Amino acid sequence: MRTDYCGKINKKHISKTVSICGWINKIRNIGKIIFADVRDREGIVQVLFLSKEKNVFQIAEKIKLEYCVQIFGTVQERSNNNKNLNMLTGEIEVIAFKLKILNTSKKLPFDPDNCKSQKKLLKFRYLDIRKSKIIKNLQIRHLITKYIIKFMNFHNFWNIETPILTSSTPEGARDYLVPSRIHIGKFYALPQSPQLFKQLLMISGIDKYYQIVKCFRDEDLRSNRQPEFTQIDIEVSFMNEIKLCKMIEKMIILLWSKIKNVQLKNIKKLSFNQSIKDFGTDKPDLRNPLKIIDINDLLKNTNLLNNFNILKERIVIIKLPNGMNLLSKNINFYKKELKKYRIKNYEFIKIKHQNIKKKYFKKSFFNNLNLNIIKKIFIRNKIYKNDILIFIHDSKEKINNWFSKIRNLIAMDLNLINKSDWSIVWVTNFPMFKKMLNGNFSPMHHPFTAPINNNVSDLLNNPGSSISKSYDLIINGQEIGGGSVRINNKKMQKAVFKIIKLNNTKKLNFFLNSLSYGTPPHAGIALGLDRITMLLTNSINISDVIAFPKTTSAHCLTTGAPNFLNKNDLNILGIKLNKNKLNK
Ligand code: AMO
Repeated sequence: MRTDYCGKINKKHISKTVSICGWINKIRNIGKIIFADVRDREGIVQVLFLSKEKNVFQIAEKIKLEYCVQIFGTVQERSNNNKNLNMLTGEIEVIAFKLKILNTSKKLPFDPDNCKSQKKLLKFRYLDIRKSKIIKNLQIRHLITKYIIKFMNFHNFWNIETPILTSSTPEGARDYLVPSRIHIGKFYALPQSPQLFKQLLMISGIDKYYQIVKCFRDEDLRSNRQPEFTQIDIEVSFMNEIKLCKMIEKMIILLWSKIKNVQLKNIKKLSFNQSIKDFGTDKPDLRNPLKIIDINDLLKNTNLLNNFNILKERIVIIKLPNGMNLLSKNINFYKKELKKYRIKNYEFIKIKHQNIKKKYFKKSFFNNLNLNIIKKIFIRNKIYKNDILIFIHDSKEKINNWFSKIRNLIAMDLNLINKSDWSIVWVTNFPMFKKMLNGNFSPMHHPFTAPINNNVSDLLNNPGSSISKSYDLIINGQEIGGGSVRINNKKMQKAVFKIIKLNNTKKLNFFLNSLSYGTPPHAGIALGLDRITMLLTNSINISDVIAFPKTTSAHCLTTGAPNFLNKNDLNILGIKLNKNKLNK
């Protein structure tokens, strides 16, 4: 039906006849000429209907916004004062000699330029996609997927699908469950990831697996979290983590170069412990220079260290370069947050002088220190006039939590982040387990992650201090991917299940058994396709890169899902609803 996409017509087409198909984006009737902008997925082109072309003009008088049309015309260069260099097709226009109305359209149910109602936009998502930047994001998502498939195939990985109706895969979230009609009372779980299947495929000898796959997690949603999202899931045998991570780096470098035309360098590695120590978080944005600086080593002979518990507490400063330029409302907010985290021992110290004299710190905690120590703190941390130091003495947990929450905010207030830069860092060697409030251990990654120390009794005797062979890829402070070397030994796997109290259930026995049949050493990773697309399209909300996203309360407003079932359908599944729960 068409020779060219509207958005692709340019000066090369001048004097040529084209046929285009699309929707009417704008109409202007000035009597003898009707101007119409026609839009398709690639962009917009201006079409002119001239009154001297009687037949076509008469039809053009009938068209309205969002009518679907086919137009035949000749491309001509616009006169110089009509050129619009902000438009890709702004140097040309199409003089129509034939117009076919393929379909009429009702007035759109929202004003595309001004609609603030997310509910409405999601209800009519198919129209929002047509009219907004989302169509461009979906195009970029398609390109990203295309490059990834090409990359993985080049590296000799096989694309293999794994089941969607399956058993629980313990990734730490709640499962989405599907009742079985044939086995009344039994449920399938939708996969939180294909973790177990991809490991089984390594035992099958597949050797190099990948899949671009939907995963499902019933958890609280955030700006970068959806209940169903897409992973680029990868597993490989006989390859160590260093090589695997190098390959992933190559893929990321390729994507950034193809989509953003940016050559990434400087991919860093940081251990989990170091990341927490410096930034209070395992997802640091390294474009932000703010750090937690421990100073207890300098305070050795001072009374500040009396009763200091090195395992639980920190004495730190945070340097805010040129912090004295901050507004008092900013500082008040940081203080409010300190209070929220119940941090009591803190002080904001303004550095008003370049030279360091004790008298400048009379009312400050620095007054307790001798001048040499103060000087050491200043020299070691390059502290200058106009900076602000936040001094804090409190528990590690409180300081880390507060700082990880506030770090990027302070940096933005101080204009410290270069938004055109990229921070890419591997955070590695996570602890195997974290201790929960009830004293139980829970895996930091997932229960199939191998410890660095392969000794089973060491792990059982001291789970709290064992470190895993794991790695997360963090870009601009967002977790883009995570993976690990896997346990390939039944005894070790059993020990991990025992530590996290998964050994009482028989559900994972099939997996334990599989480890008895010559399981190769293997490792893997999964990258979040939605999050990669968010970064590459500068989107701040994950729903801007998903065709039909869910709301924060996991609704699909386009279809109305989830829906109630009628009594009959529930009966067939052997399900009776609890009325008390329903009323909640
Ligand atoms: P993990 O749970 O870290 O690892 O997930 C891998 C990546 O998937 C993305 N992601 C999400 N994206 C959007 N919405 C969500 N709700 C969501 N949850 C996770 C993140 C994350 O880094 N099986 C392991 C991987 C492995 O060990 O191979 C796993 O799923 O970008």
